[in-house]
Amino acid sequence: MGLGNVPRDAFFNPDGSGADSLRDVVDKVLESLMVVVRERAGQSPLPRSVESHYEAFPQEGHGYDDVFARLSGVLQDSLYPAHPGYIGHMDSIPTLMSVIGDFVAAFLNNNLLSQEMSPALSMMETDVLRQFGQKFGLGENSGGVMTSGGTLANLQALALARNRAFSVRDEGLARLGKRPVLFASEVAHTSLQKAAMLLGLGSSAVVPVRADANSRMRPDDLEEKIRNAKACGEAPFAVVATAGTTVTGNIDPLREIGALAKQYGLWFHVDAAYGGGLIFSPTQRFRLQGIEQADSVTFNPQKWMYIAKTCAMVLFKDTDLLLSDFRVAAPYMSDSDFVNLGEISVQGTRHADILKLWLSLCHIGLVGYQQLVDHSYATTAFFVDQIRARSYLVLAGEPETNLCCFRGEPSFLPQDAWDEWNVELQRHLSQRGQTFLSCPGYRGGRWLRAVLLNPFTTTEVIDGVFRAMDEFYQASAAARG
Ligand SMILES: Cc1ncc(COP(=O)(O)O)c(C=O)c1O
Repeated sequence: MGLGNVPRDAFFNPDGSGADSLRDVVDKVLESLMVVVRERAGQSPLPRSVESHYEAFPQEGHGYDDVFARLSGVLQDSLYPAHPGYIGHMDSIPTLMSVIGDFVAAFLNNNLLSQEMSPALSMMETDVLRQFGQKFGLGENSGGVMTSGGTLANLQALALARNRAFSVRDEGLARLGKRPVLFASEVAHTSLQKAAMLLGLGSSAVVPVRADANSRMRPDDLEEKIRNAKACGEAPFAVVATAGTTVTGNIDPLREIGALAKQYGLWFHVDAAYGGGLIFSPTQRFRLQGIEQADSVTFNPQKWMYIAKTCAMVLFKDTDLLLSDFRVAAPYMSDSDFVNLGEISVQGTRHADILKLWLSLCHIGLVGYQQLVDHSYATTAFFVDQIRARSYLVLAGEPETNLCCFRGEPSFLPQDAWDEWNVELQRHLSQRGQTFLSCPGYRGGRWLRAVLLNPFTTTEVIDGVFRAMDEFYQASAAARG
């Protein structure tokens, strides 16, 4: 069978001919994207409606124009997180260099499984992550691997902790007489339960530790839970502290928790998927004090470093442990002194997420990142002032990062109607206020959550959000008579 039905431009020509038509295609895609940018600017970050465009695969392929017409439909129906009013989740506008980095990574199509398949990029990942290890204060022998999201980073950290504690890398858990358990705050991310499930411990092996009024893990309760577990014949092996909790952005007392982990001989993991961005700010970095004691750290540059998804890493204080307690060699790769990254990470074939991170760091620089972090603190302070100025709004606790969790408790309604009122307020803001706030369940109720990442979310934008909230409040008060 010939190739008569494969379009001549199904691939770019590796001999370099046809470069002009490649430029035309890129121009067309860019134009479609710019239409979205221009149209969405004055509208909601949410798509108006989402329709299904996904017909059966065609027998014969379509030309560019047809394909791009379909792509436009997808763009119209997609969320637009770059919008200054999109402040509901831990994702925001991506750096331009990370968009370019992903484009180039796809073009190069190197595989970060092994050095022979990605000579420059494998070394880049090792070098860049060594620098991150040092920025977190983990020391000279620190480093790690990129992972596709924080969930996998937490999984890998806990897999190494478990293997190390019980020497189960090769023989598995069957011969263990005691049940391994780990400790994390009751508001820690659910990826820890997933990790425990996948590690054969069962999701209930994550023992919840009580959090204080500001969602920070209580060291006294941690100690009690560790002692109880030991007394019950369980085998504690790790403590996970969170730096930047998912709903409120608070930071567990890392120093005290690290000291307890050491006292009881437990692995100390810090899930800094969100709060890790504080390493760039000399004025805010103090909030991470104690992270340098960690055996492992999760950090997601896809959040506070604005790198296009996915971009996450797991770092280890002692990278030798990755070799002794995690590595599974890939004998189908040629021998070299360089440790193939796919042998020391959960994934085999790996995307070159490192490229967009490195390009963004080269372009924005450490001082640029410092300013982005500090600027978002100023924006958050302004946002919090607006909440405190309104008697119908209450904060879930004291914000420590750029997350602000709050809700309406209008006195003209009974308490059991507040949840529904907040859900309706969120809907109103999305539909009328060109704003998206998320509406998480927290402490048994519905709350509103703002994540003030986007540098385009100015004080004018925030004023508009609160004007829309006040309108809703006044209208619902009036409707009650
Ligand atoms: C604190 C924390 N840890 C881990 C994760 C999981 O990261 P991912 O969604 O990239 O897997 C999240 C996600 O928001 C998070 O907030």
